Amino acid sequence: MKALVLAGGAGTRLRPITYTSAKQLVPVANKPILFYGLEQIRDAGITDVGIIVGDTAPEIEAAIGDGSELGIDATYIPQDQPLGLAHAVLTAADFLGDDDFVMFLGDNLIEGGITDMVDSFQADRPAAQLLLKKVPDPERFGIATLRTDGSIERLVEKPSEPPSDLALVGVYLFTSAVLGAARRITPSWRGELEITDAIQRLIDDGAPVRASVLDGWWLDTGKKDELLDANRIVLGAVERRVEGDVDEDSNVVGDVVVEAGATLVRSTVRGPAVIGSDSHLEDVFVGPFTSIAAGCRLERCELEYSVVLDRCTIRDLPRLEGSLLGRDVTLTRTERRPAAHRFLLGDHSQVEIAEG
Ligand code: TTP
Repeated sequence: MKALVLAGGAGTRLRPITYTSAKQLVPVANKPILFYGLEQIRDAGITDVGIIVGDTAPEIEAAIGDGSELGIDATYIPQDQPLGLAHAVLTAADFLGDDDFVMFLGDNLIEGGITDMVDSFQADRPAAQLLLKKVPDPERFGIATLRTDGSIERLVEKPSEPPSDLALVGVYLFTSAVLGAARRITPSWRGELEITDAIQRLIDDGAPVRASVLDGWWLDTGKKDELLDANRIVLGAVERRVEGDVDEDSNVVGDVVVEAGATLVRSTVRGPAVIGSDSHLEDVFVGPFTSIAAGCRLERCELEYSVVLDRCTIRDLPRLEGSLLGRDVTLTRTERRPAAHRFLLGDHSQVEIAEG
């Protein structure tokens, strides 16, 4: 059995971060999102992993290398344009051959791994087995309806009147029959070869398509608020480990990771939170559900429920929350006159300024 991990795509919903970085490498609890999925694939006993890459191929390849550090054997498969999930499957046809495979969306996080699902698929080998999750807002997702025997009857994309509340999670198990189905579909209204259309084709052909329902959480990290929520949930499982330098006027409360090389001076960190290596915090309060990556410098500021990537500088800001900062961002207060806010923001940046 092989794995096909989708780490291409446009990432428009996470701009401006995705102008310069792959969204699958944005860290959650200071670990790239993509690594969680690759570890779950490895834990299910699958090591032959094809990784679909697009414009951000160099960055993805630099992060994963040959895969040996993650216990996998990585093969990179360039996709010229992000023309849809079924297009990604067809792009990988040579790599997949006649083998069964799990397709995993590289920006999805799921609780509990995929081992049970893979085991049950291998026992019966239906043409496809899809992971579903009950959601409160089915109109936002691809939705499945089930027959009484639990097999899948129909798939609909973002229905205005949802026939069920079972959304397709970004993990799919296939035999090579899906390749034949994907070759017989045409692009959807948004110009993509949709995996839901290929699976519907399998169903219409009478092939068995089964469902597994996920009890744990599922997070699609494609947007800022989803990413912050993922960070909150993953940090909830972090265990305290303080290896950096914490001075006697600092206070580290609860499940906090302070990596080696980080320094805290007169600062309080209230977990769950992680502070990356070589980050320096001075007169700072870090509240729960915050991840600060490596090499950051924070002085006289308060920060909560946020994700800060490498080498950011934050100085003299009373309170930040619900924020996602890309790499090398500088946020400071100024004494310069005239007193005014001054910005240098990339396209699609978003700034909210509090009154007062
Ligand atoms: P999406 O999040 O559906 O698409 P996207 O990355 O283009 O994002 P946006 O809607 O914000 O523009 O993709 C799910 C995952 O699959 C994601 O990790 C990117 C990847 N992907 C590919 O590798 N190739 C593709 O053709 C598509 C559409 C997505």
